[in-house]
Amino acid sequence: MTIPDLQKRKAEGRKIVMVTAYDALFTRIVEEAGLDVLLVGDSLGVVVQGKKDTLSVTMEDMLYHTKLVAGAAQHSLVIADMPFLSYQVSVEEAVRNAGRLLQAGAAAVKLEGGAAVVDRVEAMTRFGIPVMGHLGMTPQSVHKYGGYKVQGKGVEQAEQLLADARALEAAGAFALVLEAMPAKLAAKITQTLSIPTIGIGAGPDCDGQVLVLYDLLGLFDQFIPKFVKPYAHLKADALQALRRYREEVEQGKFPTDSESYH
Ligand code: KIV
Repeated sequence: MTIPDLQKRKAEGRKIVMVTAYDALFTRIVEEAGLDVLLVGDSLGVVVQGKKDTLSVTMEDMLYHTKLVAGAAQHSLVIADMPFLSYQVSVEEAVRNAGRLLQAGAAAVKLEGGAAVVDRVEAMTRFGIPVMGHLGMTPQSVHKYGGYKVQGKGVEQAEQLLADARALEAAGAFALVLEAMPAKLAAKITQTLSIPTIGIGAGPDCDGQVLVLYDLLGLFDQFIPKFVKPYAHLKADALQALRRYREEVEQGKFPTDSESYH
């Protein structure tokens, strides 16, 4: 999957399927299932590192996980999130950090924000670094919102988000993530833009969908937003397996003769 392939999907009306990945094992499983795009999301701060938000994720963390995912990926497009403070300070820092993520194996980077990051998107695009935008409930601004809250509900906010989406497209973004916004607004943005939109909590009319891998597999249950659909219940399966293992070791039932060398 390449960026032009992804953009063709919109013209063809074929949905794009994206999921987060943080390591080689799950990258191989996701690819075997035939998904299109792997996002090395800074959500790893929450689901892998156990923090309450994504703000403490560093460039070093992102480079490490990007190398794991890109090293294992064979067909899908690998996009790496730019962590908090890696692109906000200056255009120069933003371009350098985006370039480092490409050197780690990503084909593109994603960053959060609208008008405030347009100059970053323009500069990166000019230097051949493909950029995915991210609008709506952008998790790195959690303190500004006072929590993980739906954005774009009022007319003024909705108009601002539509203007931001247009500005990101004009700056060269090749696609946009739309997170936690009314479905009607996401549909309007999707119709207005010629680049694909990937929704998460943004209704069915986006050009594709993304979910956090551990949410969709039912592994992470500390906070389950309304838009998450668990397609499996791997935490329950893991608990059952681990409890059985504990019991069998305690009762001397494992290992048996067939699990032993002779
Ligand atoms: O970090 C992440 O996982 C994301 C997705 C939820 C879009 O940005």
